[in-house]
Amino acid sequence: MSTHTSYMTGFGSHFATEALPGALPEGRNSPQRAPYGLYAEQLSGTAFTAPRSENRRSWLYRIRPAALHRPFELREAGAFHNRCDEVPATPNQLRWSPRPLPEAPTDFVEGLFTVAGNGSPAAQQGIGVHLYAANRDMAGRWFYDADAELLIVPEQGRLRLQTEFGIVEVEPQQVALIPRGVRFAVALPDGVARGYVCENFGAALRLPDLGPIGANGLANPRDFETPVAAWEDREGDFELVAKFQGRLWSAAIGHSPCDVVAWHGNAAPCRYDLRRFNAIGSISYDHPDPSIFTVLTSPSDTPGTANLDFVIFPPRWLVAQDTFRPPWFHRNVASEFMGLVHGAYDAKAEGFAPGAASLHNCMSGHGPDAATFEAASSADLSKPHVIADTMAFMFETRAVLHPTRQAMEAPQRQADYFECWQGLKKRFDPTRREI
Ligand SMILES: [Fe+2]
Repeated sequence: MSTHTSYMTGFGSHFATEALPGALPEGRNSPQRAPYGLYAEQLSGTAFTAPRSENRRSWLYRIRPAALHRPFELREAGAFHNRCDEVPATPNQLRWSPRPLPEAPTDFVEGLFTVAGNGSPAAQQGIGVHLYAANRDMAGRWFYDADAELLIVPEQGRLRLQTEFGIVEVEPQQVALIPRGVRFAVALPDGVARGYVCENFGAALRLPDLGPIGANGLANPRDFETPVAAWEDREGDFELVAKFQGRLWSAAIGHSPCDVVAWHGNAAPCRYDLRRFNAIGSISYDHPDPSIFTVLTSPSDTPGTANLDFVIFPPRWLVAQDTFRPPWFHRNVASEFMGLVHGAYDAKAEGFAPGAASLHNCMSGHGPDAATFEAASSADLSKPHVIADTMAFMFETRAVLHPTRQAMEAPQRQADYFECWQGLKKRFDPTRREI
């Protein structure tokens, strides 16, 4: 058994790692007999024939192949699913207070609560948006998501992700990325954990092109960390949970699926510390489009129009002159789900605590609340302003996010959210150009 936690740096690199010397076959992927009596197995994250720049796959050398388990049976439906057609999608602005931590024993998978979604796992496009709140380790239970790549955004409590590829530890203000199909279990070093999960049904997330920004900036590739191989040879009466086409399935498995002694390839989990993000903004005038804060993007078939953009609003300086410095009022053809993992968000004076969520769908008007507008309209622009102690994020997606019934009926939904704009006064005076 090797539970060594260590990381290799780089995003989407072709990594090679072995927890026993010589466990990786040399010069070939599938020798007649793999070292140490291991089974060779390929995990394909893209079509075999995807262009080289898109192609993602890894070779795993493991104690038992992934095929070895009892048949799956459908589990009773819970709060984690993709049923986003049960209530009409509303043009209203939506916001939710943080969910309370569970009282009954609840592990990471049991604690997932679906808020919204678009597209479909069947079509391999769109996203699912979920919250999690958990208070116990997944002990003897592993999970994989055949529908989606998972972007896990902790808000409270650390997560220890035991994956087939190695161990990924994340804390709030870090994120984890788990490729489609990779099996993992979640332990909670702090006893409780809460946060957000985006299921990406579409093309795998990657770093955005930088255009005129140049070769450096935003999220830098070397700050992504992929675990070295870590394996366990453990037998028992265990459970393997699969998410497949929006439903959870359960199979008995007689061993730990985290039995990969060595692997190589470029489809693998990783983590990233959002505090390493190189924020770039205006040093003259105007607040740039939030795309300048894109950490990772999942492209759609339409160039420049993302299936999913993962965007953050990190600590930064505001220095723009003759400018309304907070985010402007806007309507967007894309749909915006937001959360907050640390501190306060600069466009809202209150109502959006860490763990809260908001959803502004296609063409729904939104922007700073009345208090923020008043303050920013009269702020002294001769001084730079630092925004500290904050880490908000956005899952932005090209198609409308349909909220679930359970999200619309949740007691945390703020039915009075619209009130935050009702205090915006009429300021127009046709006789005075300078206000
Ligand atoms: Fe927005």
